[in-house]
Amino acid sequence: MLLQEWTMEEQEQLIHFMTTNTWPFDGESHPGRTIIEKAIEEGGYESDEVKTFWVENELGVKVGIVKIYDLQDEIPLFDLKIADVSRGYGYGPKALRLIAKYVFDLPEQKIRLEGHTRQDNVAMRKTFQRAGFVKEAHLRKAWFSPKENSYYDAVTYGITREDFMGGTTTPVIWEDVEKGKEEPRIPVFLDSFESERLVIRAPQIEDSLDIWNAIRHSLPALREWLPFAQSEPELESTEENLREAIANFITRKDLRLHLFKKDTGEFIGSSGLHRIDWSIPKFEIGYWLATEFEGLGYMTEAVRRIERFAFEELGARRVEIRCDEQNKKSRTVAERAGFILEGTLKNDSLSMDGKVLRNTCIYAKIEGE
Ligand SMILES: CC(C)(COP(=O)(O)OP(=O)(O)OC[C@H]1O[C@@H](n2cnc3c(N)ncnc32)[C@H](O)[C@@H]1OP(=O)(O)O)[C@@H](O)C(=O)NCCC(=O)NCCS
Repeated sequence: MLLQEWTMEEQEQLIHFMTTNTWPFDGESHPGRTIIEKAIEEGGYESDEVKTFWVENELGVKVGIVKIYDLQDEIPLFDLKIADVSRGYGYGPKALRLIAKYVFDLPEQKIRLEGHTRQDNVAMRKTFQRAGFVKEAHLRKAWFSPKENSYYDAVTYGITREDFMGGTTTPVIWEDVEKGKEEPRIPVFLDSFESERLVIRAPQIEDSLDIWNAIRHSLPALREWLPFAQSEPELESTEENLREAIANFITRKDLRLHLFKKDTGEFIGSSGLHRIDWSIPKFEIGYWLATEFEGLGYMTEAVRRIERFAFEELGARRVEIRCDEQNKKSRTVAERAGFILEGTLKNDSLSMDGKVLRNTCIYAKIEGE
């Protein structure tokens, strides 16, 4: 068996070969003379990119033809065709080995050789296997058949230079994500929703002045409980923190939510779902309110709505609220919203001035309760 390069002088022979055999998986199973002539004219059989070879058997009979194309590329492709009467004699796999040899012997050191076929082309699939190719892809409904006007599945086989040279066959490792390390599924959700009196939405860069003012005016109340409220904030640092929150929202690492009054559009405070573990999924609701909006039940309303969002939209199995045991107002919000005190962690943190040990209350709700 050998491959014999086809030349333009053999145009008639090529046309005869292509028009007197049948190609059941091609767009045209019986191509006419004009189609082949046109393809030759357009460089479809011979150009910088394409070379065509006869497949000759031991007796010098031309039993098939192969086009190798994308030859300028590091990864060429091919199309192998054996004549009707010569099919089923094992020529296909032998020819494919010769094709691979030709490709990998090229001075450019080609990386790999690949081919595609229709999923139900059993002969070609076996040919790939016999020649040491490995199935690398199964593309559903990727092969259009104009004859039937319908889509078939397509399969891709490939052989690497290393495998060909070493006479080895390396299978594809399909289980390439370590068990237990699969990325958890994160649902698609809207970044804005409403409660009775509030609009609750993802942070936006336009919110920076509102937040800055709210923190500055609420410092005396917030100072005791929140690390970021220990000193008068700079507008720049508030903005920087906001950008980080926006980025974390987009990547679903942390979901800060800003609260606005529906009727006036005023910013009243901030909440959100933090310390997220998407694999469960579980979340912790945190919150702070601008002092002027305290005592009106806004935060309980927001927490109830955010909790619903977590269970219904995000598939939460657990939602927590953690707060300092001495933070009466915060504990009241958790309790009014129906969270259950699961325990108190003793000496879990330090007071904001770093002088006193503090206990942390863990409130939680779990799915279905
Ligand atoms: C695909 C093709 C190149 C294979 O060449 P071939 O010389 O017929 O290959 P073989 O004789 O070695 O047959 C390959 C295997 O397919 C099997 N086979 C051949 N024709 C078959 C058919 N119609 N149905 C099911 N199996 C078939 C053979 O029994 C053999 O299997 P085995 O190794 O287990 O015995 C050739 O059949 C052909 O030119 N077909 C039409 C063009 C084509 O489809 N080209 C591929 C375009 S992507």
